[in-house]
Amino acid sequence: MNITVFLGAPGSGKGTQAKQLSENFGFVHFSTGDMLRTSIKEMKPVGLKAKSFMDQGNLVPDGVMIELIEEALDPLSDNADVLLDGFPRTVPQAEALDSKIKTTVAKAINFNIPDSILITRLTGRRICPNCGESFHLVFIPPLKLNTCNRCSSTLIQRTDDSEAVVLRRLEVFKSQNQGLLDYFGNRKNIITIEADRAVACVQKELLSILKH
Ligand code: AP5
Repeated sequence: MNITVFLGAPGSGKGTQAKQLSENFGFVHFSTGDMLRTSIKEMKPVGLKAKSFMDQGNLVPDGVMIELIEEALDPLSDNADVLLDGFPRTVPQAEALDSKIKTTVAKAINFNIPDSILITRLTGRRICPNCGESFHLVFIPPLKLNTCNRCSSTLIQRTDDSEAVVLRRLEVFKSQNQGLLDYFGNRKNIITIEADRAVACVQKELLSILKH
């Protein structure tokens, strides 16, 4: 299995990029945030465990997340090209990929972006509750106001995209990020990209990194 992990602050564009790569180039994409939101919607035990942590902008406990990813990766074939978006978020999660889950991360991509842009990106995000497509009120507006381009459902704001919860998510991110950068830095398989550029520009650079 060829695993690439996307690291970066909430709002740095990990999900936007990973979705396009999976749709256009065949990568298998796992977004732990999307997996948890689906579990909440379907009232599954993992969703019920995760909900209060997510609503407050805190991390869901490592044990829950490691089990979730382990189950997702288990059925995949050895030659799958996998993008992990939102996992690992802590050093124990990164270690679990090696030890418990027994996979190797080929590349870690660090989405670098100034803090000042993140709050605008997150508070302006709107998502489709039906197909999961993501938009931004200003940067990536839907063709028709508040309506999903893909399935015409009415767009909603994620409950954790309010300014107060966004600030907490950024605080939590900062408390964990250096540890992860050091972890992958020590293995010399981390590549930093500047994520404050147009979606297509970031995508082009990602593709060239992933192909090599
Ligand atoms: P999750 O859903 O993973 O949220 P996140 O990491 O906070 O990431 P986001 O989805 O907010 O940001 P993104 O980088 O994907 O940006 P996006 O592409 O959407 O996690 C939610 C919660 O689940 C966590 O808080 C935690 O509680 C829990 N959780 C999940 N994984 C966990 C784990 N491993 N361990 C523990 N807990 C976990 O873009 C954002 C906006 O910007 C969009 O509106 C988009 O349209 C716009 N945009 C994107 N790219 C550009 C661009 N280039 N130019 C202009 N606008 C852009």
